[in-house]
Amino acid sequence: MRAFASKTSAALAEESRPSASTLGDGLSPRNFELLARYIYDYSGIKMPITKKTMLEGRLRRRLRFVGVDGLNQYCDFLFNGGGIESEAIHLIDVVTTNKTDFFREPAHFDHMTNKALPDLVAQGHRRLRVWSSACSIGAEPYTLAMVMEDYVQAKGGPDYSILATDLSTDVLRVAKRGIFSAAMIEPVDQERRKRYVMEPRDPARGEVRIHPKLRAKVGFARLNLMDTSYGVGDAMQVIFCRNVLIYFDKKTQEKVLTRLCDKLVPGGYLYVGHSETITGFALPVRQVANTVFQRV
Ligand SMILES: C[S@@+](CC[C@H](N)C(=O)[O-])C[C@H]1O[C@@H](n2cnc3c(N)ncnc32)[C@H](O)[C@@H]1O
Repeated sequence: MRAFASKTSAALAEESRPSASTLGDGLSPRNFELLARYIYDYSGIKMPITKKTMLEGRLRRRLRFVGVDGLNQYCDFLFNGGGIESEAIHLIDVVTTNKTDFFREPAHFDHMTNKALPDLVAQGHRRLRVWSSACSIGAEPYTLAMVMEDYVQAKGGPDYSILATDLSTDVLRVAKRGIFSAAMIEPVDQERRKRYVMEPRDPARGEVRIHPKLRAKVGFARLNLMDTSYGVGDAMQVIFCRNVLIYFDKKTQEKVLTRLCDKLVPGGYLYVGHSETITGFALPVRQVANTVFQRV
């Protein structure tokens, strides 16, 4: 987007003119490069050449909506026809990977119940703000809401709210509705299902819905972790940033984590995905458990 503004459309048109290598179904090397650079600048997501086939597959979903027949025509529409402004959100929606589960990486939720929440209460916090910063379709923030609600009901407090953000508008739409397939809800144990999940009106549809009382505890918003500062209001006591850092390079990971730490109260907790590491970054945190960190 911004990186291409300095080039004239004629120059770009010349560069993406069909040639022997651009004819056919696949993206031309030049168009792949333009897309990869755009996606990286916009979202931080690395798009190495090894992901070309995956990218092509996902972009094909957009061709019909845009009204073009091929991937290189789609790029022509984006970069030469001024389509990028209106198409950016949809392009990013199709390139993000949204895999998630309820109670994914369950050790984190045990840590919250047994260590982080008692500690935060002992620190004197009466109200906890919890942030799921790459929330996908909502399984993570609704799991957090279940864990928080269990704790609050057992101990009589504290008050809490959950902010759930993501870059993709598609996943946020699903998350807000709080409707999931019965298969997806399976990791939620029976006791919690009774308390927090509503039985379907029409069982044949195989869908369940998160209870309105729990949904009311979770607010959803679009937020790009590439933003230079995060407009999330007061500092958080708990931040989850799981299974998104893996899509970023080291430089981007450190910038994102630095900004997240700025939004964490001293003594607050940061959870990253089990396959993610923050080793080597200059961050104001100390490790307190596997992939769990506390702000100093
Ligand atoms: C694999 S999902 C992880 C979901 C959840 N945190 C979990 O661990 O189950 C990664 C999510 O990160 C989001 N994402 C990717 N780049 C992002 C960015 N720059 N800012 C905010 N969210 C982003 C994607 O849209 C996707 O929903």
